[in-house]
Amino acid sequence: MITEKNEILFGNGDELPSNHSTNPHIQDVISSSRRQILAGGAAMGALAFLGASLPGIVQAAEPAAKGLKDFPLKRRSRLPFVPVDVTRADTITVPRGYTASTFIPWGTPITGRYPAYLEDASNSADDQEQQVGMHHDGMHFFPMNAKLGGQQSDHGLLVLNHEYIDAPLLHPNGPSVSDGKRVNVDEVRKEINAHGVSVVEIRRGLRGEWSVLPSARNRRITGATPMRIEGPARGHALLMTRYSPSGTSARGTLNNCSNGYTPWGTYLTCEENWAGYFASKDGELPRELSRYGVRDTSRYGWETIAGDEFERFNATRIADDARADYRNEPNAFGWIVEIDPFDPNATPVKHTALGRFAHEGLVFAPVKPGRPVVCYSGDDSQNEYIYKYVSRDKYRPQRSDGRLLDDGTLYVARFNPNGSGDWLALDHADPAFQQACTAAGVQFADQGEILINTRLAADVVGATKMDRPEWGAIHPDTGEVYFTLTNNSNRETADAPNPRAPNAFGHIIRWREASRDFAGPRFEWDIYLLAGPQDNSRDSKGRALNDSNIMASPDGLWFDVEGRLWIQTDMSGSQLSSGPFGNNQMLVSDPGSGETKRFLVGPLGAEVTGITATPDFRTLFVNIQHPGEGSSSTNFTSSWPDGPGRRPRSATVIITREDGKRLM
Ligand code: FEO
Ligand code: CA
Ligand code: CA
Repeated sequence: MITEKNEILFGNGDELPSNHSTNPHIQDVISSSRRQILAGGAAMGALAFLGASLPGIVQAAEPAAKGLKDFPLKRRSRLPFVPVDVTRADTITVPRGYTASTFIPWGTPITGRYPAYLEDASNSADDQEQQVGMHHDGMHFFPMNAKLGGQQSDHGLLVLNHEYIDAPLLHPNGPSVSDGKRVNVDEVRKEINAHGVSVVEIRRGLRGEWSVLPSARNRRITGATPMRIEGPARGHALLMTRYSPSGTSARGTLNNCSNGYTPWGTYLTCEENWAGYFASKDGELPRELSRYGVRDTSRYGWETIAGDEFERFNATRIADDARADYRNEPNAFGWIVEIDPFDPNATPVKHTALGRFAHEGLVFAPVKPGRPVVCYSGDDSQNEYIYKYVSRDKYRPQRSDGRLLDDGTLYVARFNPNGSGDWLALDHADPAFQQACTAAGVQFADQGEILINTRLAADVVGATKMDRPEWGAIHPDTGEVYFTLTNNSNRETADAPNPRAPNAFGHIIRWREASRDFAGPRFEWDIYLLAGPQDNSRDSKGRALNDSNIMASPDGLWFDVEGRLWIQTDMSGSQLSSGPFGNNQMLVSDPGSGETKRFLVGPLGAEVTGITATPDFRTLFVNIQHPGEGSSSTNFTSSWPDGPGRRPRSATVIITREDGKRLM
């Protein structure tokens, strides 16, 4: 952001809320008699099955939701480790019997000339394009024989996102700015190249150690890599730019947060807080910019430097025609991008049918031959929504590909206070959608315009405003879908699915599709866990969290194949520096027993995010993002992973058992 004093702030990119729609909070749509008790109690109805009573909240007379039926209790713990304590140590802490080692930190050479990482951060933009990017996030391990359905565990492609940059750490003396403008072309280019995705071919040696292979498959995809636009918005007038007058292509992917992977062996990277990369000086912004929080200043000031590759971040109307300026450039962001990791020459594809918002990630329901493909995605911003996509065509093993993501129906979730839920279609051809548009006085010319304005379309149908939807994960046995709602300092009134206002600590919600039909229109939901300290939290069995599992701001979420839920936290600010939770952490939770234990604590200032495992479950990969957040170019607040006095770097951590067996 550039302030009034013309300072570029280089913030971490969490966006300010931009849902100013009159779309009601859920309590506004239920009767006024209910409303009287809602703020105090009925909103907590969905928690009644937990036996929950939270500070300052009065229990409703009748539970509004019964909650999902519990799993049978297992006798033996499926979390066979001693939990680690809360700590502010500047290291990775894991339970006894486990080992954590650093892998592919920012700057690791992986392709081209394999330029060595220079400790003073003096690598050029060109070097950065051949090195692992900054700020590791979502990640997936593809066995080398994945395309044939193989489960090879000692050789594969590790594909990971690089969400954003820490400009003070990316350059030797921080970013150069003069009079509110960026002045060094190579610096800005390096920042763009530090974003995106890395594809790294890796192999496990006989002693269990992993190494990067020099491979033609290794690849960097950056904020400048050419991409194709597919789906209903391809060629739309709102996607036409000076670079792509036909509205069919775009340059780069940005703010790649969580990820997904398809049943046909490709990687999906998700564009989250992209709005802050753009600036528009126009007095009145069109809805496709204003509803996403594009402002008159940008986070890094890229648009302030000359050259077409940078001017595209200026979304101001300059020319007579959209095909001669970059007013529509922000419309090319906010999508899910598909990358074929096995083909280094494949052009990444932005799939518009999946909607345009601050995509955290994308998680697929189990596929069945002859059934549509179904996937879920959260819009991580305060008071935004959760979405589901159902393909029109059916899944056919070995034959289906990314085209399944180009034609289908996008739905948004409404969580009813009684524990039921509805998927509301955002479909131009759907009479109910058209009726809602008429009632709201909103018009969309075609499906492409709906998708470019996904948030507004969701406002129109009355979706439920959530507490920052982050990752989703699907239980491998029960098919229940779990989503983290990380926190929401801007929630003014509690409701059933978001029962604390404000919500400082976050929670995990889950739902089960009616009739176990992932493609269906209805679901049942409940709250799995309320994060927080001992006196303001509940686990899935209604007990307060304790020393072995207090947490806040749950974000990353993943099920291992045996149905253990791995939870990663992303606290920031005072919660991180002085709360009772220590550094950010990773926990494991067993939905069967309700047991939850802290498995890992990260280094100072870092977020723990991104998780994947080899099929043999002997190697777990976890990402550590932004250690030493808040460092200046001369004062590092963490020295992880390289040691005292050294520049902190985001990195992957490889976790194994000392005896080499399965992790659990
Ligand atoms: Fe990039 Fe929502 O975390
Ligand atoms: Ca996240
Ligand atoms: Ca987060």
